[in-house]
Amino acid sequence: MHRHSNQPAVTLRELVDDDLPILFAHQRDPVAVQMAAFTAKDPDDWPAYLAHMAKVRADPTITNRVIVVEGVVAGSIAVHSWFGDPEITYWIDRSFWGSGVATAALRLFLAEVTTRPLYARAAADNTGSIRVLEKAGFVKIGDERGFANARGAEIDEVVYKLNG
Ligand SMILES: CC(C)(COP(=O)(O)OP(=O)(O)OC[C@H]1O[C@@H](n2cnc3c(N)ncnc32)[C@H](O)[C@@H]1OP(=O)(O)O)[C@@H](O)C(=O)NCCC(=O)NCCS
Repeated sequence: MHRHSNQPAVTLRELVDDDLPILFAHQRDPVAVQMAAFTAKDPDDWPAYLAHMAKVRADPTITNRVIVVEGVVAGSIAVHSWFGDPEITYWIDRSFWGSGVATAALRLFLAEVTTRPLYARAAADNTGSIRVLEKAGFVKIGDERGFANARGAEIDEVVYKLNG
């Protein structure tokens, strides 16, 4: 495979049971939780995580992919329509931040999931996530306020849209 040396070899694959403890560990990292803001009520609650993921995996309208970097599980990316419109969500383990993994994963995911328009939300201060969305062609369509479990408060949220 041809790629530039500064770009990680990112692939997507379907979720398997063995991924669950790894993704759970990523999604309870306090630094990442603080950044994402809109998280599970208790990111340390393993039974709640398992119950949530069982629902996700049983839902045929959800596409959920594991992000792999050179054989290592680096995160996950999904589209769901739980609030109406199809929304993208992703999470990269902190050990992989800043090397283009989210950008590459989103590019691959958007080639696989061809539904348009697609939407995404981020905490208004999540500049990394906003940058990832903008690089993929998402444009800001709104500002909202929402209760962020990780901040224990209502915070500013931005809404993004990717047209076909
Ligand atoms: C936000 C997140 C997905 C970024 O992943 P990543 O793999 O580090 O992102 P990339 O390396 O592809 O970076 C993409 C761009 O964002 C920028 N960026 C990434 N993290 C950043 C940060 N914390 N602050 C400012 N810019 C940041 C990069 O510099 C890059 O911009 P550039 O190409 O112009 O240099 C990752 O930090 C994460 O998963 N955080 C926790 C969960 C979360 O917030 N998920 C999103 C919920 S909406």
